[in-house]
Amino acid sequence: MKLFLDTASLTEIRTMWDGGILDGVTTNPSLVAKEGRPFETVIQDICALGVPSVSAEVVGTTVDEMLAEGRHLRGLHKSIYVKCPMTPAGLQATKILASEGTRVNMTLVFSANQALLAAKVGAAYVSPFIGRLDDQSQNGLELVADIVQIYRNYKFKTEILVASVRHPVHVLEAAKLGADICTMPYAVMEKLCQHPLTDIGLARFLKDWQKVPKG
Ligand code: E4P
Repeated sequence: MKLFLDTASLTEIRTMWDGGILDGVTTNPSLVAKEGRPFETVIQDICALGVPSVSAEVVGTTVDEMLAEGRHLRGLHKSIYVKCPMTPAGLQATKILASEGTRVNMTLVFSANQALLAAKVGAAYVSPFIGRLDDQSQNGLELVADIVQIYRNYKFKTEILVASVRHPVHVLEAAKLGADICTMPYAVMEKLCQHPLTDIGLARFLKDWQKVPKG
């Protein structure tokens, strides 16, 4: 499973990219707004790090607006995936953009039928928002399981990008279900590596190493 950071913070992205565990980045208008810098500058700075997949979202709501923004965004850098919302206009724009060779990440997906439609119009990624479903007392991971089954049934090539991740168990369960990608906040990715027994074990090894006679 590929691991993406869900952030627009260059500092966070650079840390994980240099650490060698990052496969991509997803952004959205809310995350970009936190940075206090122009959208395109933020996206271009992320791409310049060499991250191979960077999702940048359109904010237009009509087909024509999404097409214009999507075509412009994909021209900024070869790593860009254009995020279109799961609306009738978003589906239509995705179909056209995909036919032109643009890789589209269909975002704001909350049902398996929406994911079915995203695959049918040729989206490269489908983004089920599992944390926001959990917040509504619906099991987000059950949605991921349904999408995995549907995509397997029909051999759809659209990759399942599990989004709105809140904690490491979401990542673990997404991996067990066979999701292609999981995007998560920096704090969650940091926790994937951590275990108190690793820290205790390392401290013990280093202490015992002091007892080894130096040759
Ligand atoms: C995905 O691409 C979205 O940016 C993101 O995962 C939304 O997560 P949130 O529910 O934490 O805002």
